Amino acid sequence: MDVTIFGSGYVGLVTGACLAEVGNQVLCVDVDVDKIALLNSGGVPIYEPGLDDLIAKNKQAGRLRFSTDPEEGVAHGLFQFIAVGTPPDEDGSADLRHVLAVAAAIGEHMTSYRVIVDKSTVPVGTADRVAETVRLAQHERGHAVEFDVVSNPEFLKEGAAIDDFMRPDRIIVGTDNPRTGELLRALYAPFNRNHDRVMVMGVRSAELTKYAANAMLATKISFMNELSNIAEAVGADIEMVRVGIGSDPRIGYQFIYPGCGYGGSCFPKDVRALERTARSKGYQADLLQAVEAVNDRQKNLLFSKIEQYFQGNLKGKTLALWGLAFKPNTDDMREASSRRLMEQLWAAGARVRAFDPVAAEEARRLYGDRADLELVENRMAAVEGADALVIVTEWNEFRSPDLSAVQAQLRSPVIFDGRNLFDPAQVNGAGLTYVSVGRVPACIV
Ligand code: UDX
Repeated sequence: MDVTIFGSGYVGLVTGACLAEVGNQVLCVDVDVDKIALLNSGGVPIYEPGLDDLIAKNKQAGRLRFSTDPEEGVAHGLFQFIAVGTPPDEDGSADLRHVLAVAAAIGEHMTSYRVIVDKSTVPVGTADRVAETVRLAQHERGHAVEFDVVSNPEFLKEGAAIDDFMRPDRIIVGTDNPRTGELLRALYAPFNRNHDRVMVMGVRSAELTKYAANAMLATKISFMNELSNIAEAVGADIEMVRVGIGSDPRIGYQFIYPGCGYGGSCFPKDVRALERTARSKGYQADLLQAVEAVNDRQKNLLFSKIEQYFQGNLKGKTLALWGLAFKPNTDDMREASSRRLMEQLWAAGARVRAFDPVAAEEARRLYGDRADLELVENRMAAVEGADALVIVTEWNEFRSPDLSAVQAQLRSPVIFDGRNLFDPAQVNGAGLTYVSVGRVPACIV
């Protein structure tokens, strides 16, 4: 089948590459000339394990192409995916400018039936606005061609995006037209094996499903973070509590890890956007506000623990940071907890020496050259002569360091661990004070 994907960002590229991989003819269109030039010359603008190989293979096979021309895009695909960004507005609601610009281009250029697929995470009601925009653009062109708008939200996780797309838990198809539901079902058939994962529902339900999933996961994390603060206050160990409650299958072990707050492009933005949507309909979503507020407070946690440990005296200190990305296996630093921490440390006059397996370049892009940020090549180079070590991202390669070597390097032998990677006894055994999240107060060595 012929598929056009507008937007060569995270979701667009993964969707395009995976749909090409199963034999479709895919054309990816983006207004960013540099990005398309990069893709055409063999580069990939984002870091995602396996994506570069998948793109190269499908380009080679002639199934995946890139263009900046919307007219070519509209002419190409029966399916017109909209996978452009929806950055938050000043008030936190999703900005639909890019989505509606694509809708207008489709309306302007289409000459035969098209299925327009909303893949971006968009507020409830967007499909209707897309349809209106297409109709208006057609009207201005003096033509009226039939089309349908489908909501088909994406649930992929950064770092595991290809696997998530290839083996999805569910494929949500929101449409009020059964015939369009069948077209999407056919497109997704290669990913819908063993048992039926396609769920066809009304457009608004599909749009809300995406926000509901992200808000539920964010709620689990904020709940655990809240509980970790209570655990500290009462002298309990949140890691034992986590295992204890996770054993109940109704609660489950996934997504109940306490830490220094969730980040990324989805949870913070989507929780806020859903809250704004509710408010615009006259409903005050107290729980969502609390999820957001708890996360915001949790992002201050590492700094306040560090400040407390050094009794407010951070001027001139050097903190080694392990992890800059908002989570492992990505170079994405959007809303990463590391950013809040670094900004607080700098404001207090401290220096940061950071190591991240892939996000250093992104940090350089965000912060440029500054005297109080040093980006180093490996984890031990970060601790060399530093005052203390802070762990911000739960990269696997941080899980079993040579703690004695770390101890020997630090001026104050202390680890602040925002992800609870270690057994406290083991860290203390290496002669280090261990300050983690929600566990029995730090054992000072
Ligand atoms: C998320 C959803 O998982 C995905 O389904 C949706 O489509 C987009 O948003 P992603 O943003 O890639 O995906 O990240 P995810 O792996 O979900 O992690 C989000 C954040 O939560 C990270 O900062 C992570 O460190 C944090 N987290 C996760 C916790 O603090 N505790 C947990 O138990 C799990």
